[in-house]
Amino acid sequence: LSAPVITIDGPSGAGKGTITQLVAKKLGWTLLDSGALYRLTALAAETAGVALEDEQRLSELALSLDVEFVPGDYGEPVNVLLNGNDVTRDIRTETCGNNASKVAPLPSVRAALLQRQRDFQQFPGLVADGRDMGTVVFPDAAIKVFMTASAEERAERRYRQLKDKGEDVKIATLLSEIRERDARDTGRATAPLKPADDAVMLDTTGLGIEEVLAQVLKLVEESI
Ligand code: C5P
Repeated sequence: LSAPVITIDGPSGAGKGTITQLVAKKLGWTLLDSGALYRLTALAAETAGVALEDEQRLSELALSLDVEFVPGDYGEPVNVLLNGNDVTRDIRTETCGNNASKVAPLPSVRAALLQRQRDFQQFPGLVADGRDMGTVVFPDAAIKVFMTASAEERAERRYRQLKDKGEDVKIATLLSEIRERDARDTGRATAPLKPADDAVMLDTTGLGIEEVLAQVLKLVEESI
């Protein structure tokens, strides 16, 4: 018997991270932020001076990442340590997210991160968010959600987030970056962003966090 898994996939900025944290907290389950692993690979590459096209060295980096996820308090993001250094903020920048989406299409980088992601499947259960959680990493997941929102709304949410953090950004720039990232994530050959056949589609455009959370928890009640 293996621990139950809930997968939450979708494009960047759809609200997966927030909802995943709240669902994991509510159920007392483990959380996997798979995007953080791609971001950490990109960051480790930058630190080590490895080019984002150097598949061989990138996959070696991905395999040997010394990562620790430290759980945060209620509602707060977990802290992430890379080689013992706190990189929680460094991996959340736009640049790191965009770089992550450049290393993510490389098949040997994805292969290097696969087992590390599956190791998160522990009792009492796992909530995993990313792009290919329901299609590739946990194809037998009990519940699969594909969360979307219009690109405009995602850009606006991101704008507010960055503004709150004191970052100076333009909404038009964010929108075009989101569109580029969507195109890269959807168009790649290996593990492209797409809903699993058995995923429940959840469009969060115009919905608040509480409404989305309630919908996901309803799915959990119905099937676990
Ligand atoms: O979700 P997040 O924005 O942190 O992901 C950063 C990038 O990592 C994505 O744009 C995507 O290219 C890649 N990624 C992926 N597969 C996942 C999670 C993230 O390819 N499961």
